[in-house]
Amino acid sequence: MSGLTDPSVQDDPFEYYAGRLASCPVWHEDDIDLWVIGGLAEAREALQDVSTFSSTPARSRRASDAQIAHHRTLAEHGWPRQATLQRTDPPVHTRYRKLLNRVFTPAAVRDFTPHIDEIARELVDVIAERGSCEFVADFALPLPGIFIAEQLGLDRADYRRFRRWADAMLALANRPQMSVEEAIAEATIEVEAQHFLADEFDRRRETPGPDLISMLVHAHGDDEEPFTMHELQDLMHQLVTGGFETTTAALSAGMWLLVQHPDQQQLLREQPSLMGNFIEEVLRYDAPVQGLWRQAVCPAHVAGVDIPEGANVMMRFGAANRDPRVFDEPDRFDVTRSNARNHSAFGFGAHFCVGAALARQEMASAFVAILDRFESIELAEPMPDPVHEPSIFLRPMKRLPLRVVPKG
Ligand code: HEM
Repeated sequence: MSGLTDPSVQDDPFEYYAGRLASCPVWHEDDIDLWVIGGLAEAREALQDVSTFSSTPARSRRASDAQIAHHRTLAEHGWPRQATLQRTDPPVHTRYRKLLNRVFTPAAVRDFTPHIDEIARELVDVIAERGSCEFVADFALPLPGIFIAEQLGLDRADYRRFRRWADAMLALANRPQMSVEEAIAEATIEVEAQHFLADEFDRRRETPGPDLISMLVHAHGDDEEPFTMHELQDLMHQLVTGGFETTTAALSAGMWLLVQHPDQQQLLREQPSLMGNFIEEVLRYDAPVQGLWRQAVCPAHVAGVDIPEGANVMMRFGAANRDPRVFDEPDRFDVTRSNARNHSAFGFGAHFCVGAALARQEMASAFVAILDRFESIELAEPMPDPVHEPSIFLRPMKRLPLRVVPKG
């Protein structure tokens, strides 16, 4: 039986999930010895049980030569990965999260919104002039990319430089089979980003501005330890890797779903108040992060299944979002679905996505700008097959060629 490592299952995993969920919400991927928690209730409970399912990197996993070379390059010339935030468990995690929660507040997202709207409208204007676009490269990548790049102190014109940095930061996770030479080359680019960021951290320590870097540097209270440079570097790596490709995937999935479901697009145009629910349904239907690792640090028993101590476990958000015990007709895309928001796309518990409100706002700004500007949007040419880049975690779309007709 094919499984999660099969590229065709990664491209369209939903039939596979349905088959698995029909027999049990927890299953074992035999070829990679991975336990998968795919039911929504089970994933929610397991994610909250941090004393059983740990986020710290598994010590048993042997590092590849590429990983060793990558680490050495960062250690010799920059700052090697340090376990902060997402790679820690409470109580260590709690300090990081408390300080980050002060940065990603609803008020901060409200303050950023006019600027996100402006970036979305500018990108849409360029597409309107041309009458066509490749949506991933022309919109879904630059919207979150320009926003983060500017927060880091780069000019908008430097967005390409930022993209190269972000690609380098994601390289090892996206291409685990890379050679030692490639790993060193990617780490060298990341070192360049780290030194740029180090200067920005120092600068904002002295002269804070209304940006994420300044907020991070100054997040601590009078009686709390500020983040060290090493911690700041690691946190920035997580914000870039956690916030860029995920948002790009969410924007691409939303657009792809609107094109595939003209009736739902029409409904959204007629009832703009459905925008919030549309966003939740996109995140439910096509979870940008399909799954993430944990390690069982003691024997666990989930849905009648024994998971042994030391097991690699994957919380499968993509499957949980199609759990038929929670969502009626889970494979139907329905912008009016009343419980769409009950999805697991941002995780649950201590590690619940710190950027969820920001991501939702980026999606809202994007789709309001798009539907306001274009009276029709359709595929410009047949979609490539497979539609997505292969990945066990994410579902990044390869490309999405569109033809658009601007209003009036
Ligand atoms: C649609 C877009 C996004 C999706 C689907 C998404 C998904 C997720 C998920 C599933 C987790 C839980 C990880 C776990 O349990 O181990 C998470 C955590 C996280 N996300 Fe997001 N994310 C998105 C956007 C963002 C943005 C915009 C940022 C920041 C700029 C961000 C930063 C983070 C960070 C730093 C964590 C770790 C939190 C912690 O460990 O306490 N994400 N995200």
